[in-house]
Amino acid sequence: MAETTNVTIRPAKNIAGTVRLPGDKSISHRYATLAAVARGRTRLQNFSSGADCASTLACVAALGCSTAGGQDSAVEIEGLGPVLRAPLAPLDCGNSGSTMRMLAGILAGQRFTSELVGDASLSRRPMHRVIEPLSAMGASISASDGDRPPLRLTGGRLRAIDYRLPVASAQVKTAILFAGLFAKGTTSVEEPVRTRDHGELALRAFGAELTREPNRASIAGGQPLHAIEAHIPGDLSSAAFFLCAAALFPGSNLVFDDLLLNPTRAALLDVLRSMGVRITVLDLEEQHGELQGMIKVEHDELKGARISGALSAALIDELPVLAAIAPYTSDGIEIRDARELRVKESDRIAGVARNLRAMGALVEESEDGLRIPGRQQLHGAELDSAGDHRIAMAFAVAALRATGESLIRGADAARVSFPEFFSVLESISER
Ligand code: S3P
Repeated sequence: MAETTNVTIRPAKNIAGTVRLPGDKSISHRYATLAAVARGRTRLQNFSSGADCASTLACVAALGCSTAGGQDSAVEIEGLGPVLRAPLAPLDCGNSGSTMRMLAGILAGQRFTSELVGDASLSRRPMHRVIEPLSAMGASISASDGDRPPLRLTGGRLRAIDYRLPVASAQVKTAILFAGLFAKGTTSVEEPVRTRDHGELALRAFGAELTREPNRASIAGGQPLHAIEAHIPGDLSSAAFFLCAAALFPGSNLVFDDLLLNPTRAALLDVLRSMGVRITVLDLEEQHGELQGMIKVEHDELKGARISGALSAALIDELPVLAAIAPYTSDGIEIRDARELRVKESDRIAGVARNLRAMGALVEESEDGLRIPGRQQLHGAELDSAGDHRIAMAFAVAALRATGESLIRGADAARVSFPEFFSVLESISER
């Protein structure tokens, strides 16, 4: 087993500074994957520094595209057009569900057999959600026990489908739209609630025509893609940890330069505003359909929140850190309709409850959520990341307002999405 690193977090008095973050993970995956099947050399500035996106790049290279990592997190990918090369070995997706699911969409359109493998956490995650629609399109896919990685996938002539997603998942929506590029006819995907739309925007950026209605997107097969040049804005789900850290201390003052502000990802900003945090947008621009800009965060008293339904889906990656700061709010946080948290990199409902209890908090755990009363003072404790990057980072934030030091066990899990996390946290924590 790989060695893990522990990190000690000391309580802070305030959060202040200016932060510029590595590029958004969701966008980095999509641009790198589409670049492979586009013609020409795609150049991406501020590509995500996380291990997950490195897994996507390595898979793209194994499929015959030459890739180069330049300076300043710039990445170049030489696309092969719609026909990729058969890989010589299994494609290693590491810890990354996004890599496996989105790549499966592209591989469904390739006439060779490939195997997609992942680490122990990814090997436990459900894949039926991509296997079913991609099989209906004509790919042949088998998985261990029908649902779990590794996936063995033989692509071929695909036919378009009109598919309603049973679970709200942007990864699966994206995989189907990517496969739609290779299908005969027009593929449509309808989602039960709106999820992040980076897949739709990325397809358009690379030159595909795509029609959109509320909660539905359609793409005609056979469209050629062209390479792009893009700057990827800072990752909003990584920013979430510092936004929540700032929300813990009256008098915090934090500026995010160059941050992704896509409305389908920005629900956290609205929720924090409703909790009393002052967030000002200082600058806003658009690139390839993605809104990005500069924001300033200040705050006094922190109220609670009730999160359910479509909001839970929109906040899925930010719920662990919101839950981790819940005890410090005046009236607590209740999360419902978030069952998907149980099948992320770890069971995040269980992980949040376990760590909050270790810090002395009262927590009620249900099958699809958590209820955490407010006005609780937590104490420092030994906290376990369970090998999950978002749990490691969420509890580093909770530990900032605890009495006494905390130890985050397996803190190196953060490298999956945000290797610089602990050094940035240190640089904005005033003691
Ligand atoms: C992602 C979608 C979400 C999210 C993941 C990234 C994406 O997963 O949790 O971190 O980039 O599409 P699901 O689509 O499986 O909910």
